[in-house]
Amino acid sequence: MTSTRFVGAFAGVLFAATAAQAADPVKIGLILPFSGPFADYGRQIDNGIQLYLKQNGDTVAGRKIELIRKDSTGPAPDIVKRLAQELVVRDKVDLLAGFGFTPNAFVGAQIATDARKPMVVMNAATSSITAKSPYVVRFSFTQAQINEPFGAWAARGGVQSVYTIVSDYGPGHDAEAAFKKGFTAAGGKVAGEVRVPLKSPEFSAYIQKVKDTKPEAVFVFLPAGEQGNAFVKTWREYGLPQAGVKLLAAGDLTDDGLIESLGDAALGLITSFHYSYAHDSAVNKAYTAAYEQAFPQVRPNFMSVAGYDGMAAIAAAIKAQDGRVDPDKTVELLKTTKMESPRGPISIDPETRDIVQTVYIRKVERVGGKLVNVEFDKIEQVKDPGK
Ligand code: PHB
Repeated sequence: MTSTRFVGAFAGVLFAATAAQAADPVKIGLILPFSGPFADYGRQIDNGIQLYLKQNGDTVAGRKIELIRKDSTGPAPDIVKRLAQELVVRDKVDLLAGFGFTPNAFVGAQIATDARKPMVVMNAATSSITAKSPYVVRFSFTQAQINEPFGAWAARGGVQSVYTIVSDYGPGHDAEAAFKKGFTAAGGKVAGEVRVPLKSPEFSAYIQKVKDTKPEAVFVFLPAGEQGNAFVKTWREYGLPQAGVKLLAAGDLTDDGLIESLGDAALGLITSFHYSYAHDSAVNKAYTAAYEQAFPQVRPNFMSVAGYDGMAAIAAAIKAQDGRVDPDKTVELLKTTKMESPRGPISIDPETRDIVQTVYIRKVERVGGKLVNVEFDKIEQVKDPGK
């Protein structure tokens, strides 16, 4: 074979390889609870991702987006470790995404580092997650981001003493520390604090203790879902509103997707959060309308928006690489994200790979027959203060 013919044949092989790669799907390993008491996390985030793909097409720069779903079942790091390894080794995913719970995101981050896979966090909210791997980029929120400004807001508004109740794991510890920091720096006093088990907490004894202590207000963080309902129910049963104790909560408690199950007991609750179904913007009106059309019977919540925005950023990064998904380049691109989300303006802080966004103070009201979180105050461009 002459050298020209050799080069020609070699180029042909190369061309074939590139063409095959272009036709291969981009695989995203999506790890979320799809069953059990927290199945709603999976449903909401998956719906948000699907809505983005429905609106924008599921092929980006010639490559189809393939979602490979794995059920974490809840906060279960041992299961997630196995699932993430399978996704990387057997399914050969290009990216990892999802992560409803902090302990799951911690093990995911280790595997993302070992396998050099970008990992897009769509809920887990403990500050340190992004520091666990240079491949992690977060599109959700952090408890510190939401609750340090909330503590300061409460003290400025005249609340003098607060008792804190948080779930006893990463995001609860962060929420407690952040709220207390903001609150005491602005002159407030901590009347007491308690951490409750992550799994199946029983609230009566804690709420009785609060009643006996008589603080002016309680601050609470619980992971979104049934626990919030149980808490609010017990709070009412024990007569805390009549005893004059105010309830201030991280917005997970009045999750837009589940708020109707709280019923009138939710009315008047004050919370701090980064997304409300009732957020008054054209982008959010279009989002909620499209979501409810695509998924009737489900009201979009903060998790759905993190899925939607995270998928939008992933698609933009694939497009910018003409269909390639180089791990380091992808992270570099995700770090430059800046967009108008249904929640308001968001960006990624390139130094920490964490989200910068507006924090809203809201009150539960009935509007047009629906229970919603009405935003009435805001703190703009909040970077995670928990780094
Ligand atoms: C978390 O585990 O980081 C977490 C879970 C549920 C929430 C917020 C944070 O509502």
